[in-house]
Amino acid sequence: MTKAKRNIVITGGAGFIGSHVVRLFVTKYPEYNIINLDKLTYAGNLANLKDIEDKPNYKFVKMDICDFEGVYKLMQEEQIDGVIHLAAESHVDRSIKDPFTFARTNVMGTLALLQAAKLYWESLPERYEGKRFYHISTDEVYGALEFDDTLFTEQTPYSPHSPYSASKASSDHFVRAYHDTYGMPTIVTNCSNNYGPYQFPEKLIPLFINNIRKGNPLPVYGKGENVRDWLYVEDHARAIDLIFHKGVAAETYNIGGFNEWRNIDLIKVVIKTVDRLLGNSDGHSLGLITYVTDRLGHDARYAIDSSKLQRELGWEPSLQFEEGIERTVKWYLENQEWLDGVTSGSYQKYYEEQYNNR
Ligand code: NAD
Ligand code: TYD
Repeated sequence: MTKAKRNIVITGGAGFIGSHVVRLFVTKYPEYNIINLDKLTYAGNLANLKDIEDKPNYKFVKMDICDFEGVYKLMQEEQIDGVIHLAAESHVDRSIKDPFTFARTNVMGTLALLQAAKLYWESLPERYEGKRFYHISTDEVYGALEFDDTLFTEQTPYSPHSPYSASKASSDHFVRAYHDTYGMPTIVTNCSNNYGPYQFPEKLIPLFINNIRKGNPLPVYGKGENVRDWLYVEDHARAIDLIFHKGVAAETYNIGGFNEWRNIDLIKVVIKTVDRLLGNSDGHSLGLITYVTDRLGHDARYAIDSSKLQRELGWEPSLQFEEGIERTVKWYLENQEWLDGVTSGSYQKYYEEQYNNR
C-alpha cells in the first residue's frame, strides 16, 4: 500500500518545541512535505534544524503568521492539508513587559492562520475532508492550582493570569470557535512545561545550566516554592505526532508526565547534575542560588492530568525525569557553541547566510 502524501505546515518550527516536531515529521514521514513557517524572532533559530535542512521533504519559509495574505497564498501554492501551529511568543516574563506583542502574535496570528485555512479549504471540492488544524497550547491557560493534589483536566475552566496565558487562552477559544462555527476539524492540546535541547536560555532550566557553567548567579523568584510539571520535549513531540494522526476532531487533550517539582528542588537537581558533569565537587555551585523579587502574578502550581491521552490514544512519556535531566544537561554542555551563539545573538546571521544567498 502506498503511504498517504500530505502537505503540512508547521508554524514556529525554528523554535524550541517546533524544531523537535519538524525533525520528527521530516525523518519519520519522508512521504510528507513539511513546510516550516517561522518569522525567526529572537526565539527562532535555524541552527536548531541543521541536521535536516537539506532533506527533500523539508522547506523553510520565513513568514509572520500575522501576514494573512502571505499565509493564504502559501496554503494555496503548497496545497496544505494539515496545520500544526506552534508559533507564539512564549515567555511569561516578556509578556509582563510587552503584552501587545503577545496579543498580536498569539491571538491575531492564530486568527490569521485559521482564516487562511478556512478560505483555502472551503474553496476545495472536498472542503474540510482529510484536513486538520492542530493548535498547540499550554496548561497555563487553566490558571494556578493550590499546593494540594488537584490536577488540571480537560474540563478545568480557563482562568489565565499572565498576559502570555491570557493570549494563549484567547487563541484556544478562537480555534474552538472555528470548529463550532464553520465545522473546521480542529484539535487543541494543552501541555505542561517542556525541557530538553534547543530551549532558549531565558527559560528556567537552560538559563540555569548556562549560568552555572559561567559561575553566574541563579535568580530564584520568590522563595522557589512554585511548582511546575515537567515533560521532556521529545515526548511532547511524540504526543503531537500521535494526536495529529489519531486524535478526534474538536477534542482537547492534556499532555504531561505526572512529574511535579518545586522550583528549588528542581534547581538543586540541575546544579548537582551540572557540577558532576563538569567535574566539580558536589555542592560546588549551590552558592550561586540567589533569591530575587518574585515574578508579578506568579502562578503557584501547575499540574496536568494527561490520563485521557493515555487512556484513549495510548501515549505515555518514554523518559524518567532523572534520565531526561541528565540528557538535557549533557546536551547543553556538549553544545556550548549553540548556547554562546544564542546568548550573543550571532545565530540570527545564520538565516542570512543560509537562505538569502540561495
Ligand atoms: P519558542 O519561543 O521557543 O519558539 C517560538 C517560535 O515561534 C520561534 O521559532 C519564533 O521565531 C516563532 N514565532 C514567533 N512569533 C512568530 C510570528 N509572528 N510568526 C511566525 N513565527 C513566529 O516557543 P516554544 O517553547 O517552542 O513553544 C512552542 C509552542 O508550544 C507555543 O505555542 C507555546 O505556547 C507552546 N507550549 C510551550 C511550552 C513550553 O514549556 N515551552 C509548554 C506548553 C505549550
Ligand atoms: P519558566 O521556565 O519561565 O516557565 P513558566 O513560567 O512558563 O512556567 O519558569 C519556570 C519556573 O521557574 C517558574 O515558576 C518561574 C521560575 N523561574 C525562576 O525562579 N527564575 C528564573 O530566572 C526563571 C526564568 C524562572
